[in-house]
Amino acid sequence: MSKLLIAGNWKMNNTVEAAEQLVRAIEENLESTIDVEVILCPPFTSLSKVAELTNKNSIKVGAQNVYHEQKGAFTGEISPEMIKELCEYVIIGHSERRLILGETNKIVNMKITAAINKGLNIILCVGETLEQRERGKTQEIIREQLTQSLSDIQRIENITIAYEPVWAIGTGISASTMDCKNGIETIRSILQEMYGELTAQSTKILYGGSVNPQNIEALLREAGIDGGLIGGASLNAESFVSIINKSNIFSQKTGSND
Ligand code: PGA
Repeated sequence: MSKLLIAGNWKMNNTVEAAEQLVRAIEENLESTIDVEVILCPPFTSLSKVAELTNKNSIKVGAQNVYHEQKGAFTGEISPEMIKELCEYVIIGHSERRLILGETNKIVNMKITAAINKGLNIILCVGETLEQRERGKTQEIIREQLTQSLSDIQRIENITIAYEPVWAIGTGISASTMDCKNGIETIRSILQEMYGELTAQSTKILYGGSVNPQNIEALLREAGIDGGLIGGASLNAESFVSIINKSNIFSQKTGSND
């Protein structure tokens, strides 16, 4: 199995100055021998600063969004070509973009295609809303999001999937390990149908939604996740580093990195 991955999604938080303080605090507290892949996803405005400050061996950088064209008259947008200069990763299809900014699976698909063309690594978010869950539509929604977002994408070596049930994001109520496990298994079986067993098994699937230092270990142990996409708890160096350390201890115990 490959390394566990812990990504911090800062969302619309932190000025450049605050970003600098947070990165320094994380780096000071992070052990040098950590065997977990760590990614920080600051807002566009801090990408350059965070990229400059991070030690590429232990922390990688990602953007939270990208446009689907490389350049041109698209006021306010940022292209894969532009972020490629600053980072290796990009989050695409986060539920906040889908729900607040109206991103459809078609748009998500265009963004993935454009980002892959520039050699970026992608964290693709999928997950059902509370209403969809209550109507028993969880699996259907995950299938729709995955198949449409990955339509015509032939290879997914550079794509990590994040299962992020919308009802668990920022609510302080994480999915139970059982709900999380079910979501991960649904994603893996759809990937298997689409890309075959080998690819399905080797694709990293993260969980996101109120992950914190208290619940990360159970999620890793019982839900079979390959890491986490962390929102709120990534804004505090102590809790973010604690999540990383616990993941590191888990992977040493279980030999996840062999
Ligand atoms: P949260 O956010 O950890 O604050 O729930 C996760 C996410 O939206 O990626």
